[in-house]
Amino acid sequence: MNDKRTTSRRTAKLATPTSLGTKATHDISGALNALLADFFALYLKTKNFHWHVSGPHFRDYHLLLDEQAGEIYATTDPIAERVRKLGGTTLHSIGHIARLQRVSDNDADYVTPLDMLAELREDNARLADRMRETHNVCDEYNDVATASLLEVWIDEAERRAWFLFESTRHGETPA
Ligand SMILES: [Fe+2]
Repeated sequence: MNDKRTTSRRTAKLATPTSLGTKATHDISGALNALLADFFALYLKTKNFHWHVSGPHFRDYHLLLDEQAGEIYATTDPIAERVRKLGGTTLHSIGHIARLQRVSDNDADYVTPLDMLAELREDNARLADRMRETHNVCDEYNDVATASLLEVWIDEAERRAWFLFESTRHGETPA
């Protein structure tokens, strides 16, 4: 049996009809799957810091990070389902996430609270940049539905970055 033919027949079963075209499906699905891997990686990093944060602002930071992790997690299902609506296939496993993620893991035993917040602020800002790049891909194919979802998620990532930034200013003395 020809392996390539078997694979293409297998994936053909999952090809949802879409009027956007094969190239749009390929390009937008590819960009969304990489974003999905980033969202899962950032979700787990935010939970990691929620679990391991310590110090005098423990309650504030612990609750803020939980709220942010929940918001990040809530986007994962709509991203994956958007890929399926476009006729693409999406992530299958933790291993698949690890191969695509651009958000780096932090496996350190101890991270100071301010370093946690700064790292997440940077991760959320980069995530917003990558979503803007994906928005450009959607514009090329006039995929307004994916573009409008991204607009909401970009705003949320920027809001998370803002809260993380303001929370690192604890203890600053006025000039
Ligand atoms: Fe918790």
